[in-house]
Amino acid sequence: MLEKLSAIGGQALEEIERSSSLESLDQIRVTLLGKKGSLSELLKGLSGLSPQERPVLGAAANEWKKKIELALEGRKTALEKVLLEQQLQREKLDISAPARIVHPGSLHVVTQTVRRMIQIFGRLGFDVTLGPEAETEYLNFEAVNIPADHPARDMQDTFFLGPGVVLRTHTSGVQMRSMLAQKSPVRILCPGAVYRCDHDATHSPMFHQLEGLWVDRNVRMSDLNGVLLFWARELFGADTQIRLRPSYFPFVEPGAEVDVSCFRCRVKRSEQCRICKGTGWLEILGAGMVHPRLFEMAGYSRSEGLSGFAFGLGVERIAMLLHEIPDLRLLFQGDMRFLGQF
Ligand code: DAH
Repeated sequence: MLEKLSAIGGQALEEIERSSSLESLDQIRVTLLGKKGSLSELLKGLSGLSPQERPVLGAAANEWKKKIELALEGRKTALEKVLLEQQLQREKLDISAPARIVHPGSLHVVTQTVRRMIQIFGRLGFDVTLGPEAETEYLNFEAVNIPADHPARDMQDTFFLGPGVVLRTHTSGVQMRSMLAQKSPVRILCPGAVYRCDHDATHSPMFHQLEGLWVDRNVRMSDLNGVLLFWARELFGADTQIRLRPSYFPFVEPGAEVDVSCFRCRVKRSEQCRICKGTGWLEILGAGMVHPRLFEMAGYSRSEGLSGFAFGLGVERIAMLLHEIPDLRLLFQGDMRFLGQF
């Protein structure tokens, strides 16, 4: 029996040394030392031995058991070390590699500008409303009192999409949309893209406007002046002045062109001023009192005693002035070196 014991033990030690994975090592442990393992079975046989043989064999068996356990433990540690080495090799990090540059996104300068203005007018109670960029010829033109023979309808200016449908040439069509959709009072802003067949350093076939409309009882020209002065001072600085020059737009009467004092040279008319070119003023927007024809077309009755004003401005022009951007086309070229500055 002693021979059988050393045969089992010797073979076990060899197998342990040869085993190359934790799984096979565990398998060896079970076949030897498990409940039904060969060494365990052998130990069970001890009871059938004589009292002289029993202690000798028992001691030898325990000796082997310890040896095997030790070998198992040692091999396990060695295998674990190898596995860890392999894992470290696989997941090696090169901490000297250059870091990847993160480009955080930001709002386009045109979006920033329009949002800033919406926020300013918003404080005076204006709500934002949107209109479609594909607009009916009727709402883009007739409904804002631009008759069929008006030069603005010229094929050279307007993109026609189909019979009776154009890419809106301005946001003014939203004036009629709003008045048709809601009865007075109306106090809305409409930001959005508009389209004209035009392309050079100061014109783009697509650009953005911000339209404003305020209709209520007793709205006067002085209210228009006050609203625009508030807006100009919030945007260009507290000492900004505005001036209204008489002008013509078909949908307002009287109509005005609104200038803002140059925020750089402050009406001092410096010949060198790059912004106002020495005039002291910046031509910024069109405005006026809503033409009575528009109220008629909207179905408002005269007895309601309504009046109102409207204004419209180009967002790119404001952004270019505020940031001293020399060429409109820079805004639409998608060059990150340019856009990343804002
Ligand atoms: N729609 C005009 C344009 O595109 C701008 C404008 C002028 C809008 C006067 C208005 C206004 O509301 O009253 O040039």
